Amino acid sequence: MCGIVGYTGTEPAVPVLLDGLARLEYRGYDSSGVALERGSRIDVVCETGKVARLAEALGVGGGAHEAACGIGHTRWATHGRPTQANAHPHTSCDGAVALVHNGIIENFAELRRELEAAGHAFRSDTDSEVIAHLVEESLVSLACVDAADDALADAEGRRTPHDGTAALAQGRPSILARAVHAAASRLIGSYAIAVVSTADPGVIVGMRKDSPLVAGLAADGAYLASDAIALIDHTRDVVIVEDGQLIELGATTLALFDASGSCLAPLEPSPVHIDWDAELTEKGGYSDFMLKEIHEQPRVIRDTLAGRLVGDSVHLDELALTREELNLLDRVYIIACGTSYHAGLIAKNLIETWAQLPCEVEVASEFRYRNPIVTPTTLVVAVSQSGETADTLAAMRDARIKGARVFGITNVVGSSVARESDGVIYTKANKEIAVASTKSFLGQVVSLTLVAMMLAQTRGKLTAGQVRLLFSELADTAEKVEAVLADATSVEAAAEACKDARSALFVGRGMGSAVACEGALKLKEISYLHAEAYPAGEMKHGPIALIDEGFPVIAIATMSPTYDKVLSNLQECKARGAKVIAIATEGDDEIARHADHVIAVPSVRDAFSAIVASVPLQLFARAIAVLRGCDVDQPRNLAKSVTVE
Ligand code: M6R
Repeated sequence: MCGIVGYTGTEPAVPVLLDGLARLEYRGYDSSGVALERGSRIDVVCETGKVARLAEALGVGGGAHEAACGIGHTRWATHGRPTQANAHPHTSCDGAVALVHNGIIENFAELRRELEAAGHAFRSDTDSEVIAHLVEESLVSLACVDAADDALADAEGRRTPHDGTAALAQGRPSILARAVHAAASRLIGSYAIAVVSTADPGVIVGMRKDSPLVAGLAADGAYLASDAIALIDHTRDVVIVEDGQLIELGATTLALFDASGSCLAPLEPSPVHIDWDAELTEKGGYSDFMLKEIHEQPRVIRDTLAGRLVGDSVHLDELALTREELNLLDRVYIIACGTSYHAGLIAKNLIETWAQLPCEVEVASEFRYRNPIVTPTTLVVAVSQSGETADTLAAMRDARIKGARVFGITNVVGSSVARESDGVIYTKANKEIAVASTKSFLGQVVSLTLVAMMLAQTRGKLTAGQVRLLFSELADTAEKVEAVLADATSVEAAAEACKDARSALFVGRGMGSAVACEGALKLKEISYLHAEAYPAGEMKHGPIALIDEGFPVIAIATMSPTYDKVLSNLQECKARGAKVIAIATEGDDEIARHADHVIAVPSVRDAFSAIVASVPLQLFARAIAVLRGCDVDQPRNLAKSVTVE
């Protein structure tokens, strides 16, 4: 949620910051801004809307901004509407401090009252602005302490360098770092912050708690960002700032400190190497990232499965549980949000059918506030594309406190979910840029399918022969998805027929019911068309009242044990005038009698039907969004990584 960038070095900061913000825009895009530090002054420029408007306001290329140190932000509003006044960076009263913040400061109202009583004037409705004023307060107090210290040092004939560059050269924190540390000790909530100040020209200080922050050093300077994607054009070696750590950037230095105590203690940064292909962040000839990512799915399936079948066994060694521990498990909880939750619903069917283990799937924001039955023999699987979803992380932490083993399934190496799990499986989706998840969803479904197979085999519920057969059919789904992608004519016709609808129902049974949930979410997210998903058998218990002439019902009607039941439900809809779009198995001659539009998908066993059936629904949602003139990659009000509660 929101994006942070920072740069200090030898190059003009504006192009670097704008490029970083553009790369982070998928995280939040209702306003953006930069603070440019030039010795004794800081210039702040903010704009509502997308980063392109900020670029216009800055007049890039005009050479008006010579600063070589600055911070930038792209915002997803939490406190205060998306106005220019609420856009970051926020500044202190004297303009000597500028700050950008991701997260939520829960005690901001109390801090604001206190700071206003002390004479601070606020300009925005945000929670973030309090931090700029707190840093200002701390700078004043620390300057007094340092002055007294300097006087003593002078008297004793020694010198204590307090300016940032000199202090950094000696491995000591600058006054700005100490001020940020002191200010952070007052904060309750989550934050990733980047701060510049005229008190320490050329220095950027970053600190985090429950919100991601990374940094890197390159030949032309030091970079800071809330996501490594903003750094990879400059350096592939990235320092992941952990909770309770503070990082201080100078033009040629990068110093990390443990900020969990009352003093800043130096730490040795250990960068991780990012090996994404830069091309991944380009559209590669597709009109939008979502379409590109939908088309990457066959590759995601192949990469996720690569090396997972060893002999006749599914190998998920990262999960680090012994055979005995796996056999002792008596319950599985899958916790996740949004699309990841839907991947969990699909996995529940497989875990219960194959491994014969009770499996609950729960929305993380609910799990964390009730008292679920979690014991040391419960396996908790946390699924999160970004690995930074605040609700999922909190639910994982609760489960661990209760003694459960927690597996993470995430797409982001080094993310919080990865670091806080007992074992992690990385989906091989690679960076996903479009806000609506597609390829990461398929990566999650395939990974969870492997977990189900592994649990079943270890517990003696599937034989080696069965596992080998299932694995080979799972691998074949890559080709089948390719076939779905090769001809989208029927999807486009169905989209054209539904584009003017005001609402739509998605129905299915069993696996199809979970696929329907994901189909409805995709449509809502990117086309703003209201959509609901229902188990097809539930229609007659209420939602059928919605149906009148031309009402779109999208049915997942692939071959399954409940296929005939789905057909009956469709007849009930048709009898009331519904326009039925059916996702059906190739070669099904019957379905055309029940549907206005048939979208055929290759035949697979029911266990893998979600993989082939969800792809046309992604294309359908996108096609409708395009027809309705929506921004497919950056739908309104959403953000790629939801790091606030
Ligand atoms: O990063 P996560 O998988 O934890 O994110 C969970 C949801 O926020 C996410 O799936 C959201 O629903 C997407 N926009 C779906 O397209």
